[in-house]
Amino acid sequence: MAKIIAIANEKGGVGKTTTALNLGAGLAKAGKRVLLVDADPQRSLTAVALAHEEQQEKIYLSDYMHAVMLGDRNPCVTVQKYTDGIDYIPANKELRNTALSLVSVPTGRECVLKTILEPLRDSYDYILIDCSPSLDLLPVNALTASDSVLIPVKVDAMSVEGITSILEYIQSIRAYYNPRLTIEGILITMLDLRTVLGRSGLQDLHECGDELQIRVFDTYIPYSVRAQEMASKGVSIFAFNPKGKVADAYRRLTEEVLRNG
Ligand SMILES: Nc1ncnc2c1ncn2[C@@H]1O[C@H](COP(=O)(O)OP(=O)(O)O)[C@@H](O)[C@H]1O
Ligand SMILES: [Mg+2]
Repeated sequence: MAKIIAIANEKGGVGKTTTALNLGAGLAKAGKRVLLVDADPQRSLTAVALAHEEQQEKIYLSDYMHAVMLGDRNPCVTVQKYTDGIDYIPANKELRNTALSLVSVPTGRECVLKTILEPLRDSYDYILIDCSPSLDLLPVNALTASDSVLIPVKVDAMSVEGITSILEYIQSIRAYYNPRLTIEGILITMLDLRTVLGRSGLQDLHECGDELQIRVFDTYIPYSVRAQEMASKGVSIFAFNPKGKVADAYRRLTEEVLRNG
């Protein structure tokens, strides 16, 4: 019975896609059956797979979502093969229109993704949803479908304010659509401890977590150009640079997530 984890932050460029890919790969290396869901019309996760696979006819997340919106209660999902022994459901740009058309669905517009993923729970141990950096109905659908949310945060002058805003958002999802949604943890990404901002940001975020009683993962992901180069190669950091500090960090993050149960 899969645990469904949304990887979400309304900000872009904080490491959501990189974390979905590498946490997914880490869990797969630990012997878990993993499905990644690209729920971002920018489709960065799908683009990683396209680096090594032939452009072929695919069924995209938007196709399944439209089927549910038209009344299909049990769409038959054909997953694609990703890298590192992972399966995935790809996204295309049509997902942007899907987000807009959701608005006019009279009832159940928040539960469309949940309807698609629930039947897949038996086939996987972990389903990770790579969310879009937006506040429209796509992340609402992702958080409604999920058991927990993992929040990647990049240290900057606004990180602590950003966390307060995300927590308010999660609180409203709990209140309206998914009372069982928990917080998997806040993951500090792209951290450069050589800078004053990096060092003070790390401390501020841990203090913020303590104050709000939200888990901040012990593991942080260090800044590294190797992580940037990885995506264009279409593989995870474990395949691209297995001995590097980013691979090591995602290995430790995987252990923390496995300990969370
Ligand atoms: N640990 C890291 N160090 C340096 N650059 C990183 C790291 N993780 C991700 N990046 C780069 O930062 C950018 C944003 O990351 P991404 O995972 O796409 O964020 P998001 O999905 O939140 O928009 C990408 O260019 C990615 O390659
Ligand atoms: Mg992304």
